[in-house]
Amino acid sequence: MKVMIVGGTGNISTSIVEALLVQGHEVVCFNRGQTSAEPLSAQVRQLHGDRRNRASFEEQMRSEKPDAAIDMVGFTAEDAESDLRAFPAVERLVFCSTTCVYGVEATRLPLAEDAPPHPFTGYGQGKLAAERVLRAAWFQAGYPVTILRPSSTYGNQVGLIGSIGQNSVWLDRVKKGKPVLVCGSGNNPHQFLHVRDAAAAFVGALQAPACLGQVYNLVGPGFTEWNTWHRTGIELLGRQVPILGVPLDLLQALGGQRFGYACEIFGYNIYYDGSRLARDLPGWRPLVPLAEGMREVIAWSERHGTIPDSDAYPLEDRLAQAMLALRNIKEQEN
Ligand SMILES: NC(=O)c1ccc[n+]([C@@H]2O[C@H](COP(=O)([O-])OP(=O)(O)OC[C@H]3O[C@@H](n4cnc5c(N)ncnc54)[C@H](OP(=O)(O)O)[C@@H]3O)[C@@H](O)[C@H]2O)c1
Repeated sequence: MKVMIVGGTGNISTSIVEALLVQGHEVVCFNRGQTSAEPLSAQVRQLHGDRRNRASFEEQMRSEKPDAAIDMVGFTAEDAESDLRAFPAVERLVFCSTTCVYGVEATRLPLAEDAPPHPFTGYGQGKLAAERVLRAAWFQAGYPVTILRPSSTYGNQVGLIGSIGQNSVWLDRVKKGKPVLVCGSGNNPHQFLHVRDAAAAFVGALQAPACLGQVYNLVGPGFTEWNTWHRTGIELLGRQVPILGVPLDLLQALGGQRFGYACEIFGYNIYYDGSRLARDLPGWRPLVPLAEGMREVIAWSERHGTIPDSDAYPLEDRLAQAMLALRNIKEQEN
């Protein structure tokens, strides 16, 4: 099968390319040529351009006549409408959405796909609008789409994110013997999927008849508490540092981009139901154990020097000092 990937060189899509090649598919990637953390196999043809240049993107895609397509960089209704024009005759379009379409309201956990979406970030709202365009095309005209909503997907390119921020600076804190900061108690649930496991689901969903016209949470069973995630990283680095909780409302009051993900989602008690995907893709389940996946990403990040310097985040040092001082007061009073 000839598969077109919009993306192909990023965090998740590099693994999708590899998984497609293993199955013997012909793979073509469309991207701007700006991301090249991991070189793609010589078997892959790359087309360069920006998908937001609608006319040339759509014309290029139509002339390629792929059998199937995967859109990894669709963020708006306009992107989804463009997909419909770019890929009018595919057997399947797999569209990458996000669990951020749900927002942080829930009457029941884990959240299943039929839970009403309440996205409150522009990112979640844009993804939901794109989903609606594609679902309408399926319901009204049988357009063959499958939508996957990943939660956090970790791999070499994004590294190991932290509870209070979307990068792996916490690993540098551990290496320097500094405390690690988490949002709230750190006992809140989250779901981490290794990019190879995510890629296997994309490739499976591309071909499974049962996935036609469906929307899925792309998560494994259960959840991992943020404290467990951070403790695993601390153990892998062979250090002993405390984990200190920072109240969510303090992070919200401090504001700024650094704490954005904590304030928007990581600080909440929410997780998603992966049983629908497991039902329709019976051969799929996450295979990469957490500690093994984290070890691999740490080793890659160290080799490539991609762990940010924690000294460049002095606010986190000040927060750690403040939280330690509060902890000491509490211990002295007890
Ligand atoms: N990572 C997560 O935890 C997570 C969680 C939920 C949902 N998602 C969703 O997963 C998708 C991909 O995430 P990812 O971060 O792992 O990245 P990815 O798909 O693996 O990488 C992004 C790819 O798209 C290309 N690209 C970016 N902007 C482009 C443009 N305007 N035109 C053409 N190509 C473009 C990049 O190459 P160039 O830069 O060279 O163009 C790269 O190949 C996104 O839709 C995101 O919303 C990710």
